[in-house]
Amino acid sequence: MQRNYEIIDRIEQTGNIDRETLELLLTIEDGALKEYLAAKARETAQRIYGNQVYIRGLIEFTNYCRNDCYYCGIRRSNGCAERYRLSKEEILSCCKNGYELGFRTFVLQGGEDGFYTDGRICEIVSEIKNRYPDCAVTLSIGERERESYEAFFKAGADRYLLRHETADEAHYKELHPEEMSFQHRMRCLRELKEIGYQTGCGFMVGSPYQTFDTLYEDLQFIRELQPEMVGIGPFIPQKDTPFGKMQAGTIERTLRLLSIIRLLHPSVLLPATTALGTIHPKGRELGILAGANVVMPNLSPVAVREKYKLYDNKICTGDEAAECRYCMERRMESIGYQVAVDRGDFI
Ligand code: SAM
Ligand code: FES
Repeated sequence: MQRNYEIIDRIEQTGNIDRETLELLLTIEDGALKEYLAAKARETAQRIYGNQVYIRGLIEFTNYCRNDCYYCGIRRSNGCAERYRLSKEEILSCCKNGYELGFRTFVLQGGEDGFYTDGRICEIVSEIKNRYPDCAVTLSIGERERESYEAFFKAGADRYLLRHETADEAHYKELHPEEMSFQHRMRCLRELKEIGYQTGCGFMVGSPYQTFDTLYEDLQFIRELQPEMVGIGPFIPQKDTPFGKMQAGTIERTLRLLSIIRLLHPSVLLPATTALGTIHPKGRELGILAGANVVMPNLSPVAVREKYKLYDNKICTGDEAAECRYCMERRMESIGYQVAVDRGDFI
């Protein structure tokens, strides 16, 4: 057993993990070892970020999407999704509310919606930065061309989240229709880094057809890209999608992967996601205790929350932003952490 503790120490010492160790750590049923992995990851996060958890205000501003990812509830072929878009004024009003609640990062997330041209996105970003110069703006609006990413950056966007979804090209094809390109997604991520964004990649844990091999490739990809953020959460089926009857990812595996990612990449900004909170009532707390250091309460207007249904049974769809904000503070305090009121940049 001693040997198994050493393999966990070695991940941190070398910043690497091999394929066999990964499989072992994801499958072993040894309570003490599991706790050791989480404790190591938690200590690593605390060494860099203390007992602070960064909060990001998530604004889900459109659920129109030109893509048709097989797993996603807002894919264009989902005729059951009731579509909505927020106006610039509505987005700014979410930010105002968020600012008063202590948020200093706004994450604008949406489907790939052509209505929001580069010009419109730039206008929204620069207006937010103009009104709240002490805040960071994160975009999560999918794949665009380099010139668009450059324009958003110039307009003031600081960060960009674009999960790579899987670093294995064959697996990528199993998750996406023919017209979506693995190469293009990877190119986008490299360009975002080059432009100077704090960049986030990531994947769903337990996505259909995921294997230890594809997960290993995901971790190697993270090592290579050195993103400032990594978003991982369990895959959760959405009933009106082609993957509606597939199995969900587990809390157990998600927590172990959070810990492994923390050890591989100690200073990464790592959210305990809403999906994690959806599959377990204490998912986000457990995520923090496994080495995550970011949470993303929802700032979207309650009237549209239900409609941004990437997966079934999503939590917090009926709560006002203020309720989510204070709920999160209580949740973090219950495990000995504090919600930090600042931009929470990568260290
Ligand atoms: N359109 C942007 C993009 O593609 O990056 C941002 C929005 S997209 C809905 C955000 C993320 O939601 C995806 O990267 C995906 O990993 C996650 N997601 C989609 N469907 C999901 C599901 N059924 N279960 C869990 N996560 C899901
Ligand atoms: Fe939204 Fe708890 S985080 S109600």
